[in-house]
Amino acid sequence: MFPDFQKQKPHVAVVGLGYVGLPLALGLAKHMPVTGFDISARRVQELKRGEDSNRETDAAELRATSCRFTSDENDIGDCSVFIVTVPTPIDAHNEPDLTAVRQATAQVGRHLKKGDIYVLESTVYPGVTEDVCGKILEDVSGLKCGVDFFLGYSPERINPGDTEHTVETITKVVSGQTSVVTEFLAAIYGSVNRGNVFKATNIKVAEASKAIENAQRDINVAFINEITMVLNKLGLCSHDVLDAARTKWNFLPFTPGLVGGHCIGVDPYYLARCAQNLGHEPEVILSGRRINDGMGAYVAERIDRIWNERTSPAGPRARVLLLGFTFKENINDIRNTKVVDIIARLKALGHTVVVHDPHADPHMVAEEYGVELLTTLAAAGPFDCLALVVAHEIYAKMSDQTFADLLGGKGGIIYDLKGLWRRRSFGPEFAYQCI
Ligand SMILES: NC(=O)c1ccc[n+]([C@@H]2O[C@H](COP(=O)([O-])OP(=O)(O)OC[C@H]3O[C@@H](n4cnc5c(N)ncnc54)[C@H](O)[C@@H]3O)[C@@H](O)[C@H]2O)c1
Repeated sequence: MFPDFQKQKPHVAVVGLGYVGLPLALGLAKHMPVTGFDISARRVQELKRGEDSNRETDAAELRATSCRFTSDENDIGDCSVFIVTVPTPIDAHNEPDLTAVRQATAQVGRHLKKGDIYVLESTVYPGVTEDVCGKILEDVSGLKCGVDFFLGYSPERINPGDTEHTVETITKVVSGQTSVVTEFLAAIYGSVNRGNVFKATNIKVAEASKAIENAQRDINVAFINEITMVLNKLGLCSHDVLDAARTKWNFLPFTPGLVGGHCIGVDPYYLARCAQNLGHEPEVILSGRRINDGMGAYVAERIDRIWNERTSPAGPRARVLLLGFTFKENINDIRNTKVVDIIARLKALGHTVVVHDPHADPHMVAEEYGVELLTTLAAAGPFDCLALVVAHEIYAKMSDQTFADLLGGKGGIIYDLKGLWRRRSFGPEFAYQCI
C-alpha cells in the first residue's frame, strides 16, 4: 500500500510550527522532504528570517534546514503524510477546546488524496483522532477513512527549555489505524530518533497514554502542594521535610509550586471530560486540579499573613516584588502562568505588586496579561517583601548586596516558594520564609 520507506521517502507536512511542530519539522527534514505549515504568517516570516521566538532552536539550524516554511495552505497539497501539531487549550469553563484541531484537520482534508496518512500529535482525550478528526477528513475530502486514507496518533513529550529530552532522544509512541500504517509511521519517526519508537496497540491507547502521563504529574504535584499546606500549618518548611523523605528509595521527587503552562495544568481536564462523557466522575484528577489551581492564591495569602504578623492587619499594605513570571524556570514561555493568580490575590488583599522576570518578553506580558514587567533589578525598589515564585537560575546567584538594596537596606520579608535560598544565611533583619 505505502511505498518502501527506505527506497522512497514520503513528503511530510507538519501543520502548526510551535513548540512541538518546529523541532519535529526540523528533525524530520534531516531525513525526508518536509513542508512546515503554520496559519500564522508572522510565525512563518520569523522562521524564514532564521528567528524562533520560542527559543527552541537557533538561526544556524533554521538557515541550514531543508524544511520549507509556509503559511499558504496550498503548499501542503503535494504531501502524503500530514502531522498536526496545533494547540489544544481549555475554555473559560475548563472544557477541551478542539477549535484549532478541527480547523487544521479541515485544512488537511482539503488536500487529502488516496493513500495519504493523517497523524495527530496534539494532546487530546482518547477518541479524538478517529471520532472527531477521521469524520472531518471524510466530510471535507469525500474519501473513506481506513480505505482511501489512514489515521495515526503520536503524542509529543518534549518539554520547553529541556535540551536533554528532545525529538531526537525521547522514546516516541506511535500508533496507526492498521499495523501497516503503524510500521510506516514507526519508520518515519524512527528515522529522527534512531528507531527509539514504541508501537502502541492502537490509536486510542496512544491517546490515553499521553493524557495519563500529564494527569499523573499534575496529581503528584497536587499531593505535594496539599502536604505543603499542612506542613506550613505545623510551622515546617516542606522542602526540609521532602529532603528527608526523599532519602527513601521509592519516594517520588516532586516539589511544591505553581502548575501552569500549556500541558500539565490543561491536559487533565481533557481526561476528566472523557471520564465524565463515559459517566465516571474523576475525583482524584479534579481534586488535583483544584489544589494546583489554588496554589497562587495560597502563596499570596501566606505572604499577606507573614506581613500582618510583622505589622498589623490594619496597618499599611506591603510593596511586594515577585521574582519570576514565566510558567516555569529558565524559559520565556508565559502561557497559562499561574503567577497571575498570586498578583491578583495580593492586589485584592491591598498590597502593591511589582514583577520581575529576566526571560519573559515584557511586550507579550503587557499585551496578554496587562502586567508591566521589570526586566532588570538595578534601581528597583525599595520593597517590603521579595517573593521568589519562579526558580530562574539568576535568582540563585543574587548577591547579599542585591537583597539588601531591594529591601532598601532595612531588612524585610523574603518568601521562597521554590526553596532556592534555603542554604543561605540571612541576617536577623530579614524574615526568611521557605514554603
Ligand atoms: N509545548 C509543549 O512542550 C508540548 C509538549 C507536549 C505536547 N504538547 C501538545 O502539542 C500541541 C501543540 O502545542 P505547542 O506547544 O506546540 O503549541 P504552540 O502554541 O506553541 O504552537 C501551535 C502552532 O500552531 C499554529 N496553528 C494554530 N492553528 C493552526 C492551523 N489551523 N493550521 C496551522 N497552524 C496552526 C499556531 O499558529 C502555532 O504556531 C498541543 O496539543 C500541546 O498540548 C505540547
